[in-house]
Amino acid sequence: MTTPSTTTPDSLSLRPTAHFTAASTWLNDPNGLLFHEGKYHLFFQNNPHGSTWGNISWGHATSADLVTWEEHDIAIPATDDEMAFSGSAVVDERNTAGFAGPGQCALVAVYTSARPPRGDAPASQTQSLAFSLDDGATWTRYAGNPVLDIGSAEFRDPKVFWHGGDDGHWVMVAVEAVERRVVLYTSPDLITWTYASHFGPAHAVGGVWECPDLFALRIGDSDETRWVLVVSMNPGGIAGGSGTQYFVGNFDGFTFTADRVTDSTDPEDYDWLDYGRDYYAAVSFNNVPDGRRLMIGWASNWDYANDTPTHPWRSAMSLVREVTLVRTAEGRLRLVQRPVLPLDQAGLTDFAVSVPCGPGDRNAVVLSSEAGDRLVITVDGEDRSIICDRTQSGATDFHTEYPSVDWAPIPAGFDTVLDLRIIVDAMIVEIYAGGGLVTFTEQVFPAAPLDSIRVESRDTDG
Ligand code: FRU
Repeated sequence: MTTPSTTTPDSLSLRPTAHFTAASTWLNDPNGLLFHEGKYHLFFQNNPHGSTWGNISWGHATSADLVTWEEHDIAIPATDDEMAFSGSAVVDERNTAGFAGPGQCALVAVYTSARPPRGDAPASQTQSLAFSLDDGATWTRYAGNPVLDIGSAEFRDPKVFWHGGDDGHWVMVAVEAVERRVVLYTSPDLITWTYASHFGPAHAVGGVWECPDLFALRIGDSDETRWVLVVSMNPGGIAGGSGTQYFVGNFDGFTFTADRVTDSTDPEDYDWLDYGRDYYAAVSFNNVPDGRRLMIGWASNWDYANDTPTHPWRSAMSLVREVTLVRTAEGRLRLVQRPVLPLDQAGLTDFAVSVPCGPGDRNAVVLSSEAGDRLVITVDGEDRSIICDRTQSGATDFHTEYPSVDWAPIPAGFDTVLDLRIIVDAMIVEIYAGGGLVTFTEQVFPAAPLDSIRVESRDTDG
């Protein structure tokens, strides 16, 4: 139980403009991210009947520019038998599943059927299909569901993509959540699946593994390609509660091998997609033109997601982020993230500041509102750290786990000056440091917009 906040601000002023929110209901993970016929499709875990988690269905929104989203009817509703948990969607161009008639093209969603215990039958999580023959407007569950059942109640979140050319096959990455294991299956037709391999446990294992993704990226501008395996985990994230880590390595169509797996138990030695409290279940779009890799995360944290003070909608998605792979000054392959956002985007504040971060430099970047709320980002050149403090950022008393002071390292190569891009869109703040090598995503609930910025020296001797 949590006590209702005494300072709950007006939800109207808290609704972001460039971050997707459902009109009047709950959302969590992004699902089925897909580009098709000029439109980006965002499906999402949704409770069509309320503003807390439950009745989980696939909501649906589309966008032409990745910033303005239009919400549509529920794509895959919960039924008496099952909730439609997270998954992905593909364009079945070769009609491998046989769902399309002449002249048609099927979009196929691969989702987790989550069933509660019934009579003698225990709870189960199996993988199922739904398809659309009208470019995503309406969806039909496949009559042969489920297509993959391993007798588990913790087997979920299939991300499916085509690997190889005409002789290729479908690959599914999913999780055996409690075992902290990503499992890989292959299929010729989305219907018959064969176990291929597994990866994990590795690195952060302080919670269940969820929502994996696997994709190839070139290293910088070179022709060399590496694969990135993204794994969400709850709890045990770097900032507490839900968090998202990744591994860089190789994939041969069947098995993923990480380049670097350390025995260290220090989370600082792992690769994190985000160092804030609110970036979870991040997955990428299938079929984006020009090979761009675009991701969205759910901008919340299971620690307090059901209690955040907005009404009747609750939770937002992150901005769409383009991810690329670079070799850092220390020789490590790391993801760089950049928001997909027009420079003149109305309704939000987009700050850019350069902060000295040499030895002895200590500066605080203070975002504040006219109501006195503030978010403080301290760049400490001595400690080589970036600290994001939201304990004074507005309403904080709706949940004891919410107030937080989060930490990230100053990335290698930023020895004297660190660039920060800070995007404030009502209740979501996204911070991109070091050109996007480090990001923080944080929810804030200020009484007035955090629309002013100043840099204050905190030098210990000054
Ligand atoms: C991640 C998650 C997934 C699951 C979904 C249920 O946030 O727990 O593992 O499929 O949410 O809504």
